[in-house]
Amino acid sequence: MAGQEQRRRRHRVVLFPLPFQGHVTPMLQLAALLHSRGLAVTVLHTAFNAPDPARHPELAFVPIREALPDEVTCPGADIARQLLALNTACEAPFRDALASLLLLRGRRGQDQDQGAVACAVVDGQCYAAVDAAAQLGVPVVALRTDSAATFRTMLAFPRLRDAGYVPIKEEMLDELVPDLEPLRVRDLIRVDGSDADALCGFIARVAGAVRSSASGVVVNTFEGIEAPELAKIRRELSLPVFAVGPLHLLSRAPAEQTTLRAPDGGCLAWLDTRPPRSVLYVSLGSVATVGHAAFEEMAWGLAGSGVPFLWVVRPGLVAGGEEEAPPPLPDGFSEEIKNRGKIVTWAPQREVLAHAAIGAFWTHCGWNSTLESVCEGVPMLVQPCFADQTVNARYVTHVWGVGTEVGEVIERGIVAEAVAKVMVGEEGARMRERAHRLKMEASAATSLSIDSLIHYISSLPT
Ligand code: UDX
Repeated sequence: MAGQEQRRRRHRVVLFPLPFQGHVTPMLQLAALLHSRGLAVTVLHTAFNAPDPARHPELAFVPIREALPDEVTCPGADIARQLLALNTACEAPFRDALASLLLLRGRRGQDQDQGAVACAVVDGQCYAAVDAAAQLGVPVVALRTDSAATFRTMLAFPRLRDAGYVPIKEEMLDELVPDLEPLRVRDLIRVDGSDADALCGFIARVAGAVRSSASGVVVNTFEGIEAPELAKIRRELSLPVFAVGPLHLLSRAPAEQTTLRAPDGGCLAWLDTRPPRSVLYVSLGSVATVGHAAFEEMAWGLAGSGVPFLWVVRPGLVAGGEEEAPPPLPDGFSEEIKNRGKIVTWAPQREVLAHAAIGAFWTHCGWNSTLESVCEGVPMLVQPCFADQTVNARYVTHVWGVGTEVGEVIERGIVAEAVAKVMVGEEGARMRERAHRLKMEASAATSLSIDSLIHYISSLPT
């Protein structure tokens, strides 16, 4: 084993995450996993939202020294333009940093501690870096931090565009999308309005880079929930596709290692005082925003539901509001919730979802949140906001049957009803039962696919 490990450490994997929480987290979990299996790991990263090397002494970190334009770093930026600008700004610095790592080998010869670069694992949204690595002759694996179903929709975009499904038209919203059922047009990544062209262009580049430059694809999912989608991807791409999720379970990386914000652990003590399955956990992830009116309706809907809740109200949650401080709560709301609610700016989410007091999760359906909820057997109230969240929400409600929608319009009466449905209704109990079965499936997810990935990387020439 020691000899095998020694041989593998000569294989270095260079990782490059997209610098946002929902992407950094799974990439660092994958880093932990690859290192624990004997590979040497270097994380190339932007200065923007940089990970903290002190939390991962076993990994090497190298900043790429990018110069990001304001449209990337300014809060509330348009997502498509942000991703396009980020790709453009990172392309050359990423290439230079990777080329320097390749040169190191030349200088240090067979120095085993250094490990020669065998391949790069690049976030699939970083199409420019995927292409750059391939141009340097480095085998590159694209990490999909979203679901296999979402990745399929991205691969299908040219066909969907030709067939008139995107940009999305109001009159087609409820049509099922051929070959992507049960997705309806309204569940596709929202491509409409003024940024439709930018978003279509971005998705086309992401799919194009995988098809033309990637040597393989890694998806943070597992066969137990997405076997049909994975099979279709494997048929469509003539590349190895590794389903290595749920990464947070398999990597065993502690949540505090990957978070970019400090969580308020006090909420766990508060949960300890609550009866089992009595509390609704509410969080819309790290980037989604809601309008001021919807925020107020969420608050009064929670108050009207009569259900105890733990609500993450982070700075920037309300569009157009203060970015450094959390939005002010509606007048009179704090009084209303004194005995029944707890508000934090950032929660230790995985620990919260694992807590016995949690009865359901009101979520935006970011893929990490969805997986974390699935793995703890927690039913969901879904409020998808943008990007892949609509796809995930449809799978939660219509494929796995472990959640229900809050409703398209966020209004206090509707909110209170939806909360009651998932927390105390019969339908909620059925969802909880199915969620429990999914949890069992998730905990049975094996590392076979990771074994294949390690074998694949270890057999690459260095
Ligand atoms: C973004 C996109 O919104 C999402 O659609 C895509 O799938 C990934 O990138 P984000 O909004 O960050 O993701 O949501 P999500 O994927 O759910 O990731 C959020 C992460 O932050 C989760 O791992 C969650 O555990 C963590 N989190 C969130 C906390 O630790 N505390 C919180 O209070 C909120």
